[in-house]
Amino acid sequence: MFLRSLLQVVAITPLILLGHNYAAGEASANGLLFDPICKQISRGTSAATSVHYPGDLQYFEDISHWASSSAQRAMCTVRPATAADVGTILRILGSNRTPFAVKGGGHASNPGFSSTAGVLIAMSRFSEVTYGAASETVVVGAGLIWDDVYAALAPHNRNVVGGRVTGVGVAGFILGGGGYSWLTNQYGLTIDTVTAFELVKPDGVIVNVTEASDPDLFFGLKGGYNNFGIVTRFTLRTFPQGRVWGGLTTYLFTKIADVTAATARFSASVTDPKASIISMYNTLFGVPGIFVLMFYDGLEPPEGIFDDFLKIPHLTSDVSSRDFVSLVKAAPANFTYGRRAVFNTVSIENYTPTLLEAIHNETVFWGTRLALKSGFFITCDVEPFLPTILSHASSSSSAYPATRSTRFSPFHLYFAWTLSVFDADFHEAARQSAARIKELAVREGQKVADAPTYPNLAIYDTPLEAMYGTDNVAKLKALKNKVDPENVMGLAGGFKF
Ligand SMILES: Cc1cc2nc3c(=O)[nH]c(=O)nc-3n(C[C@H](O)[C@H](O)[C@H](O)COP(=O)(O)OP(=O)(O)OC[C@H]3O[C@@H](n4cnc5c(N)ncnc54)[C@H](O)[C@@H]3O)c2cc1C
Ligand SMILES: *[C@@H]1O[C@H](CO)[C@@H](O)[C@H](O)[C@H]1NC(C)=O
Ligand SMILES: *[C@@H]1O[C@H](CO)[C@@H](O)[C@H](O)[C@H]1NC(C)=O
Ligand SMILES: *[C@@H]1O[C@H](CO)[C@@H](O)[C@H](O)[C@H]1NC(C)=O
Repeated sequence: MFLRSLLQVVAITPLILLGHNYAAGEASANGLLFDPICKQISRGTSAATSVHYPGDLQYFEDISHWASSSAQRAMCTVRPATAADVGTILRILGSNRTPFAVKGGGHASNPGFSSTAGVLIAMSRFSEVTYGAASETVVVGAGLIWDDVYAALAPHNRNVVGGRVTGVGVAGFILGGGGYSWLTNQYGLTIDTVTAFELVKPDGVIVNVTEASDPDLFFGLKGGYNNFGIVTRFTLRTFPQGRVWGGLTTYLFTKIADVTAATARFSASVTDPKASIISMYNTLFGVPGIFVLMFYDGLEPPEGIFDDFLKIPHLTSDVSSRDFVSLVKAAPANFTYGRRAVFNTVSIENYTPTLLEAIHNETVFWGTRLALKSGFFITCDVEPFLPTILSHASSSSSAYPATRSTRFSPFHLYFAWTLSVFDADFHEAARQSAARIKELAVREGQKVADAPTYPNLAIYDTPLEAMYGTDNVAKLKALKNKVDPENVMGLAGGFKF
């Protein structure tokens, strides 16, 4: 409880700062340049679509991001209500060559990926969750966060393979090659559960993309981000879901060695696909500790799976039998809301004890140093997955991962801080730290030198080939030229083909 209260207090500060910055809403030179475009969008779209300007509460909500370093002051924001309006907006932006952004859940950890100084398209009005009992699929709007999808499916006792923690957007998660879920060991990656994308192409034409209707676009949308247009709805397979077991346990730094041993054993020996963990080596204001999120898809886990973790004396724990959405909301993801943040990732074959020790050392090494540069929360997240996770796909063709011959587990680090003057230091630390973990894994004999890097967790200057592989990059570039010859989507940020 002490931890909760501390985290709540520190979470509020940057929100106030952010509010102050953005509420000012001063006119800028850009304002004069883009304002006519915002008016044209307002006039050209249906009454249900709205345009918002600095000073409006909706504008402030639209430009807000989980990481304040991923937010920018847009000239205006627009909340389209229909796919046809999205098409109209894209035509206006394309013909005027106006920079824009598309925002789903706003959890991009890279600057400029879902923000702009131009026109921000906020997808929040696409919020339907329509379950089809006959097809056992669900249509979900591109403006939703996973929490809402889980909550809407719970009365049907069904679920989808989505994000593990509260607040993450459906759209970026899927389009960025996602994702890694509590249910991935049982059912695979989220992209492997998508059966259709409703897509507004860069020329404004609306299509439903399925494996049968357009195999190339279907392949490209599974990891290719916003390169091919704006997705308005996803159709996903659903799976049976009852109550689950798990939650968050936090331990003092004196228990890190025990948690490391338990994590290594879990990673090497647990084969029950209903079980999953994330071990989070961290420092909070420079003080080391470790958090573990445990998950079991059942009322109670069988004996032996989590016992090693449960017998270590903890600081706090909320592990219990609960519904799925409550477990997702228990993850400590919002206490850094509004801080600056950077993510980076390395694909790992095996979490060996020596590699885990090195990951621990990285956390303490950077956590101590970066605390002097307004570092707040430094975490290295260990997420072991089963070797079988890529075998659940009905089609083995997707932009990410570059290869499906081996499955890798995404290790990721995430640094949160306060002062923008230190941005470059944190970005460089995230590069160096990931490079070191990768080097150590290679030195141990893990075949990760060319393992595909997970786009959703990769730092912004990661080469395309590292994520998608040389062959897929060539295919994706050709597809991009065909779908978007005028390079309309090049006006939006993100990894670009
Ligand atoms: C706290 C946290 C927890 C996370 N947990 C997980 C996890 O458990 N598993 C996992 O695999 N990943 C996880 N991630 C990574 C996550 O998948 C990415 O951050 C993802 O891109 C977030 O999607 P979003 O819609 O919230 O992001 P946004 O910032 O809204 O968008 C991200 C990108 O997608 C594009 N985009 C968004 N909507 C559309 C659209 N409708 N059409 C076209 N392009 C669009 C944007 O332009 C942008 O380039 C996590 C991230 C955070 C910050
Ligand atoms: C795409 O599919 C959805 C769901 O089946 C449907 O509501 C929509 O009208 C379709 N759109 C087009 C352009 O065919
Ligand atoms: C976390 O923040 C998001 C907004 O980004 C919100 O939708 C979600 O409900 C929050 N989760 C919790 C548990 O407070
Ligand atoms: C800990 O990590 C730092 C930074 O990568 C490295 O320089 C140092 O040698 C490491 N220490 C140990 C004991 O591995």
